[in-house]
Amino acid sequence: MQLAHVKELEKKYLLGTYSRYELLADRGTGAYLIDKSNKRYLDLLAGIAVNALGYNHPRIKQVLRKQIKRPIHVSNLIYHEYQGRLAEKLCKISGLDRAFFTNSGTESIEGCLKFARAYARPKFRVLSLDQSFHGRTFGALSATGQKQYREQFEPLVPGFDFVEFDDTEDLERKLTDDVCAVLIETIQGEGGIRPISERFYRAARELTKKRGAVLIMDEIQCGLGRTGQWFAFHRFAPPTNKEMAPDMIALAKPLGLGIPLGAVILNEKVAAAIQPGQHGTTFGGGPLACRASLEYFNILEEEKLLERARAIGAYFKERLEELKDLPVVKDVRGEGLMLAVELKISGKEIVKQLLQQGFILNCTHETVLRLLPPFIISEKQIDKFVRALRPILEAQHV
Ligand SMILES: Cc1ncc(COP(=O)(O)O)c(C=O)c1O
Repeated sequence: MQLAHVKELEKKYLLGTYSRYELLADRGTGAYLIDKSNKRYLDLLAGIAVNALGYNHPRIKQVLRKQIKRPIHVSNLIYHEYQGRLAEKLCKISGLDRAFFTNSGTESIEGCLKFARAYARPKFRVLSLDQSFHGRTFGALSATGQKQYREQFEPLVPGFDFVEFDDTEDLERKLTDDVCAVLIETIQGEGGIRPISERFYRAARELTKKRGAVLIMDEIQCGLGRTGQWFAFHRFAPPTNKEMAPDMIALAKPLGLGIPLGAVILNEKVAAAIQPGQHGTTFGGGPLACRASLEYFNILEEEKLLERARAIGAYFKERLEELKDLPVVKDVRGEGLMLAVELKISGKEIVKQLLQQGFILNCTHETVLRLLPPFIISEKQIDKFVRALRPILEAQHV
């Protein structure tokens, strides 16, 4: 089937929620996605932070092959070998105590919100940050601090309020005794790759404790290795510092490497508020997804990919910083392999031009070129991209 035919079918039958790139995916290998006409695209977005190991990883294929000979699905009424093992892994890397499995990021956020309300009853107010993105179901959307996602679906869930980004004083003002949770992305993704400061994290941790609210970190995009640490907040609160750890962490994206899987990790204090039957999901934590996920962690550890994400991320950032001499470049920022080039103009046309030249990335917040490459990306591939990007940016008028 050719791209024109696929487009025609979708135009006729699909709900029009996505504006897609001119690219019909056929297969992938390493950091490359290949289309029907055998054109290769260096994927610097990795399926929006999902394909952390690139495409077609032999070890992931191998475990999936093994598992499809066994049950792909068993209900959560029945034990299987992999859910407990994956929960143990998530607890070990986070220092928290228990895990709950979901199917997506937005569903992980929904879980966090329910657990927070159950724990802190009768308090129900939730604070999140201006310009945040937490997902599109009603709870997650209610916590999303961007008007354009919310407006059309109001009224949303009551009890949500927004704090100015990274503004400790605003947080202190709004975090009153009736707040049950503070929800924060350690590095805002959709919001334009904006990290919170250590000062803000520390204030959020200390104030939530003082007021009897829980601290939830949304590490759906920035977590699980992308910044070169298991969690981006480990920069402020290393796993050995239990006092500074959040109460809950929301995860998804690379957790199942494309087999839908999300998770909430939580401490015992919050976990104790949830009894059997109070929350659940049909698909969450199925054997296929959990097994792929366990192999993800094995690969990251055995191939030292956290170290690699740190080193290659530093190299990528250094190369992007060379572009700061161009008038159109406003800022280069990010950590590990979560990077951004902020422009003084809209980035949409630039993304299109780069796609034509065989590079996949996206533009978020209108002016921010967002880069979330797989951890296996090489210096040579980065050089190739920067060589293509420079002349395109040079040709722009500010
Ligand atoms: C930080 C963050 N939270 C939540 C979500 C929602 O995840 P999902 O699209 O899997 O529902 C996303 C997705 O982009 C995200 O980046």
